[in-house]
Amino acid sequence: FFFFFNDTATTEIYTLSLHRRSSDLGLHRLEYRGYDSAGVALVNPDGRLNVFKCKGKVSDLEHFLDGKDLGGNIGIAHTRWATHGVPNDANAHPHYSESENIALIHNGIIENYRVLKDALEQNGYTFRSSTDSEVLVNLIEYVRATSGCSLPEAVRQALRQVIGAYAIAVVEKGNHDRIVAARQSSPMVVGVGDGEFFLSSDAASIIEYTEDFVYVGDGEIAVIDRNAPLKIVTLDNHDAKIDIKKLQLSISQLEKGGYPHFMLKEIYEQPRTIVDCIRGRINPDTCEVKLSGVIDHRDRFVNARRIIFVACGTSWHASLIGEHLVESICGIPVEVEYASEFRYRNPIIREDDIVVAVSQSGETADTLAAVELARKAGAFVFGICNVVGSSIARATDSGAYIHVGPEIGVASTKAFTGQVTVMAMLALAVGRERGTVTEAYYNEVSAALLHLPETMEEVLKVAPQVADLAKIFTYAHNFIYLGRGYNYPTALEGALKLKEISYIHAEGYPAAEMKHGPIALIDAEMPTVAIATPDHTYEKTASNIEEIKARGGKIIAVIARGDEQVRRSADFVIEVPVIAECLMPIVVSVPLQLLAYYIAVYKGRNVDQPRNLAKSVTVE
Ligand code: M6R
Repeated sequence: FFFFFNDTATTEIYTLSLHRRSSDLGLHRLEYRGYDSAGVALVNPDGRLNVFKCKGKVSDLEHFLDGKDLGGNIGIAHTRWATHGVPNDANAHPHYSESENIALIHNGIIENYRVLKDALEQNGYTFRSSTDSEVLVNLIEYVRATSGCSLPEAVRQALRQVIGAYAIAVVEKGNHDRIVAARQSSPMVVGVGDGEFFLSSDAASIIEYTEDFVYVGDGEIAVIDRNAPLKIVTLDNHDAKIDIKKLQLSISQLEKGGYPHFMLKEIYEQPRTIVDCIRGRINPDTCEVKLSGVIDHRDRFVNARRIIFVACGTSWHASLIGEHLVESICGIPVEVEYASEFRYRNPIIREDDIVVAVSQSGETADTLAAVELARKAGAFVFGICNVVGSSIARATDSGAYIHVGPEIGVASTKAFTGQVTVMAMLALAVGRERGTVTEAYYNEVSAALLHLPETMEEVLKVAPQVADLAKIFTYAHNFIYLGRGYNYPTALEGALKLKEISYIHAEGYPAAEMKHGPIALIDAEMPTVAIATPDHTYEKTASNIEEIKARGGKIIAVIARGDEQVRRSADFVIEVPVIAECLMPIVVSVPLQLLAYYIAVYKGRNVDQPRNLAKSVTVE
């Protein structure tokens, strides 16, 4: 009987058993979600409640735990991504209540924590941390003390006063049989084992112990008790249905498999992940594209007046490519919105709009909120997610998984290429139903998709050359990335990759925009990565490259194999194989991922866990 529960204050929840300890992989597997401090609470068989926590990564917690009393039947643990209060020992989770009778871990943000804290202070409560989470554990204690109710009931009553997002796990002194957990907006699953339960923010972290999961719903409280069946109640105190779902995931997908970093492994996985992404969706004999999420809602797509993509970060970049694909192949007007802006600007959404929510994790708080807004407005919502069973996947009307397997590196790589691949299939499937795509173009693009895995194998051969190039440019403090058409978003994505893992400032621009301001930045210290693969703006991009060169700028150009024109102007070239123009971002993004990766490695950065970031942004 043991649990894993983790947090990113967000929380990653992790548990310990009599036989397993923190060196087990559970909390490490959640570290991608946050890694500035970590901690664990254990309830001893004699009822003592011990909390151990420290600033740093899970490995620092492991050292800290050496020689400590780790006896316990149950435990909760957490790895944090700071929201309220700097990363330090005091702000690390778990948090004790004032009396140290209750301990809590929390993933999310309590928005009304200030009001609650003031009220608790008036009732004599003091606080050891700057977190919103400590307010919640004290509120639970206060409710329990003043009403004399059970812990699950105190959690329920306390949460009814809370505004915000949370996944919490709570244990108490004197009860080594029970964990109370609850969720609102932040993800949480209960793993159901053989005579044991697990609790986690991510099913993948506990997949080695069970394939059976219960997804705790919004506004639900799970009571996991050794002496009783699993019970889930709503905040209104009604019993909720317990629906056990199977999740198939192999452990090897969660390991580095001999690569020094997850990011490099994930870059190299792309030929295979594209196979998985298109498997069963394109008929190799007829080139016909079939997406069940489109077939099942054919009329919605055929009659759509507008498509609105909502996403964040890399998924937003992929959506910009989706905009080109859908407008040119389906003739449907498209808008691409940052989910964080969309949700707050009272957008006009009609019932014949389709909102496409794009998210690798399927847990991004802003994207999830945009989905909820769109559904309330009556739009049909289609999800393009990677994580099966994730909150966004479950909240949408229909969708298509990208099936690229777990992405652990914080910098998104294979998810981006998977998203664009799904968008290309979506555009082809819808375009054919609407009669807006010619047979020849349909066949050209779907055949190119079928050959994409080999093309990705080919392009990966540039890795050693890109590694050499990265050595030359490790000195740079700023970079500009240029691209046009389908490759303008690729330029944005290349710049994002570089900045997030190397901490070098990088900007992406449409090449023609240079002359409207950014060209003033160009000098010998400011390298430009220019994407100049064949398309109808090739000549213009070639001229932009000349303009940069004339101002002393250094050019790294991504060109088609055999291109001599840009080769002559560029200082360095990376040659890539050429396929259908609309799929070129998938190919071109690979050397850009590698460039960012190697520069970050040469700069000694923590590639998989760059500073200040978290993989899954489950807070606003
Ligand atoms: O899981 P999502 O695709 O919704 O995540 C969105 C962004 O947080 C994510 O793409 C982020 O920008 C990555 N770190 C980029 O590499």
